[in-house]
Amino acid sequence: MKMNKDKLELSPNEMRALGYRVVDLLTDHFTHLPEKRVGTKGDPAVLRPAFLKPPPAHPQSPDEIFTTLTRDIFSDNMMNVGHPRFLAFVPVPSNFVSVMADALASGFNVFSGSWLAGSGSVAIELAVIDWLRQWCGLPETAGGLFLSGGSMANLTAIVAARHAKLDDRTEGAVVYYSDQTHSSVDRAFRVAGFLPEQIRKIPSDAQFRLSLDQLARRIAEDRAAGLRPFAIVANAGTTNTGAIDPLQEIAALCALNQMWMHVDGAYGAAAALCDRGRTLLQGLELADSLSLDPHKWLFQSMECGCVLLRDAALLKAAFRIMPEYLADVHRDVSEVNPCDYGIQLTRSFRALRLWMSIQYFGLDAFRAAMERGFALAEFAERKLRSMRRWEIVTPAHMGIVTFHHPDAEYKKLHDAMLRDGFALATSTVLKGRTVLRFCTINPRTTEDDITQTLNRIDALV
Ligand SMILES: Cc1ncc(COP(=O)(O)O)c(C=O)c1O
Repeated sequence: MKMNKDKLELSPNEMRALGYRVVDLLTDHFTHLPEKRVGTKGDPAVLRPAFLKPPPAHPQSPDEIFTTLTRDIFSDNMMNVGHPRFLAFVPVPSNFVSVMADALASGFNVFSGSWLAGSGSVAIELAVIDWLRQWCGLPETAGGLFLSGGSMANLTAIVAARHAKLDDRTEGAVVYYSDQTHSSVDRAFRVAGFLPEQIRKIPSDAQFRLSLDQLARRIAEDRAAGLRPFAIVANAGTTNTGAIDPLQEIAALCALNQMWMHVDGAYGAAAALCDRGRTLLQGLELADSLSLDPHKWLFQSMECGCVLLRDAALLKAAFRIMPEYLADVHRDVSEVNPCDYGIQLTRSFRALRLWMSIQYFGLDAFRAAMERGFALAEFAERKLRSMRRWEIVTPAHMGIVTFHHPDAEYKKLHDAMLRDGFALATSTVLKGRTVLRFCTINPRTTEDDITQTLNRIDALV
């Protein structure tokens, strides 16, 4: 069969050649990742002009295309956020099955916005959401959907809460969360129409958890001033230190004051799958809404996030709009249409990645991979305690440890690590103090990776 370029078509042989080339490239990447640099950051003065060329009117050879991609993007000018020694920010330690699932979802171009267009994919999405619901201990009324990540999950939940509790009228409504809360929550409230004066950022306690005394006091003060305390955002694993806010007490406070409890578990909620996580996350089951990112601690490729609502009907109440051109879509109540439950109409089959990875590896492997994240942070803590002049600032908790050296200049250290390329850690600021931080959720990180990284950091100070 001859290809017809005017129809953007490839012959079967050309498709295979291109596809095998992609698979070979990815297989090499996954196989040799530990030997590679952790990544590089390009110089904008060089990199941006290199791509600022007019688009070609005629085909370029696949060789040329792949040479450019491998030389300028995939082996350079990117951070390998799934590298075993990428210990910075929140790593994205995806797995090969997830990557292949993404290729299938994209290749079959499954439209997962409606039951009419993607009944099979919606059925799988509902099943995976139900797994997550059960792991988090939410009741059967709960449901949700896959979306791009924690930022969209927080926004979706907050919009649903605004609708359910305030009938979308935000005047005088006040929200509460700790100073350790992720910036995506600030952004979500901003997008949802809340002004800075409607947000109370409560200073966290010595363990970087939301301070209950201050929380209760601020709620009472606001009520006395005629304002409307509306929602508390609790953290199930902060980005900085992995801190978990007192979920049960916050839920009680919400119940007492008829407030909404949103839990940002984008980082940590998935840990409810393993024994250690479940114990630490008691109270998760009391959330009115919950963000949980499979692209973090459930080892999926990027953009794979999830929002869960205790009462899925509230998502529908907040988001469903029925235009005439979707009349055929809304027929049977048993035919769930994810487009009614969130912002997106056209949406990809993100749930396939988690479903297929769990089918392939089995849940026990996921549990073990998660437990390893806890253990690796503890290993790092032990190693640091044995090293001269390093101080543990927050002990290993939920796969995160933070530490400090009196002579460390963190900006210089970061730049030196970038130049060196062996590993990457980043700094953060805790109660005014700059510290270094490891997030160890990549199950392919070895103890030796941690030891060597710490030795190199020590030598760089
Ligand atoms: C606790 C927490 N919430 C929300 C987010 C935002 O998630 P995303 O980057 O997937 O939008 C992050 C990201 O690291 C996070 O750690």
